Amino acid sequence: MENVLYVASECTPFIKTGGLADVIGSLPSALSTNEKMNVRVILPLYDEIAEEWKNEMKFKAIIPVEVGWRNQTAELYTLDHEGIMYYFIANSFYFTRKGVYGYYDDGERFVFFSKAVITSLEYLDIVPDILHAHDWQAGLTVAFAKIYQPIKHLKTIFTIHNMKYQGVIPNEMYDDLFSLPPEHLSGMEWDGMINCLKAGIFHADKVTTVSPTYAEELKDPYFSEGLHPVLQDRQVDFIGILNGVDTDEYHPLKDPHVDVNYRYSRSKKQENKVELQKQLGIPINESTPLYVMVTRLVEQKGLHLVQHILEEFLQDDVQFVILGTGEAEFEDYFSYIAHRYSEKVVAKLTFNEALSRKLYASGDFFIMPSKFEPCGLSQLIALQYKTVPIVRETGGLKDTVIPYNENTGEGNGFSFTNYNAHDLLAVLKYTLAIYHDEQHWKKLAKNVNKVKYDWRQSAKEYKHLYETVCGIKGVTQN
Ligand code: GLC
Repeated sequence: MENVLYVASECTPFIKTGGLADVIGSLPSALSTNEKMNVRVILPLYDEIAEEWKNEMKFKAIIPVEVGWRNQTAELYTLDHEGIMYYFIANSFYFTRKGVYGYYDDGERFVFFSKAVITSLEYLDIVPDILHAHDWQAGLTVAFAKIYQPIKHLKTIFTIHNMKYQGVIPNEMYDDLFSLPPEHLSGMEWDGMINCLKAGIFHADKVTTVSPTYAEELKDPYFSEGLHPVLQDRQVDFIGILNGVDTDEYHPLKDPHVDVNYRYSRSKKQENKVELQKQLGIPINESTPLYVMVTRLVEQKGLHLVQHILEEFLQDDVQFVILGTGEAEFEDYFSYIAHRYSEKVVAKLTFNEALSRKLYASGDFFIMPSKFEPCGLSQLIALQYKTVPIVRETGGLKDTVIPYNENTGEGNGFSFTNYNAHDLLAVLKYTLAIYHDEQHWKKLAKNVNKVKYDWRQSAKEYKHLYETVCGIKGVTQN
């Protein structure tokens, strides 16, 4: 059995800013439960992590870490949670701050973290066979694993969760941050900058991303944010493995935030809608279709498309509820619309887990017209709550949402191809027609009830990858 060490910058339930945290919080236990693998996770110890977790952590070691000329130290802590061992790297200068990212020295912070991870390897209570690093914040651990070779047989996997964030540092900082000879710069450098994402892609034994379609899309300069030549060089070692969803955590029957728990029942789902209408103070009507969005309010999520056509769509008998925080442009727009159409639209511009679960449970439709979406988790949560997803055909959205086909009766949602507001409007209008057609609506609901996206399949594929990289697959044994 291989020992795998996950390196990442966030992980539920400890700290989360995005979908990466959900993956790091779920995949290790799926690998351990279903594939009997020994997976551990190493993370930065942010100030933001709740005291209740910090109180459970055990101190393990103080480790000297060189960041260029700086003699830093890392305190290593452990925490055993639900059968998975987590390691935390503490350093008050880099991580005792508000929030998680967004500092001028984020580059240096994750150079430190990456160096600390590599230096800690000998202090862990296992010897990892595989180091599996996620996103730019962990990219340099892969480079350091190759350069310093702390464990001779150590193999590395690098997973891209989002190509847009690359972690760039001016080249002039190379001597300042890395005590390395100049020949190592080229493997970390792209377009005149040290690029942590590139460092991961370049040095890893295998590179993955979080859906097969996004893996395809990344060959295209539009999606790859300039790094396609780097990926092209790694083509034979690059695959897409679709994420899953934590079906225990997101379960309409078990969810304590849902007003009326249900498994498949449409009528109970309607009761949730009525409860929500009451709570939000919009007209109570079971048969008005409710469209919901739970999203970060950023361009990636396709909000410009919604902005263009929402007023037109609101001329129909529909309700629309959006929950999320983000860029002022979108916050302003949705508050304005909610004010103007107060009978039909509610905009909750906050982060509220309980309300998000109520929206998933009450909505008839979940809108997710992303410009790009490496995998996407919300459409999978929506399906868990039997809410019909309406998505743009990109990345993981394309791999998980199958458009309803009136002729064959197949499909679990709706989709459109081009990043075009009127294509979104057309599909929204089409969903209305299906909603009001009892026969089709029933058929669609039945299909949605059958959808199953858990972590089992992904865990199987990762295990296969680990075995391949360790040379276990294909070796015949007598
Ligand atoms: C990033 C991507 C998202 C993906 C998540 C987990 O947040 O934007 O699409 O689901 O990572 O892999």
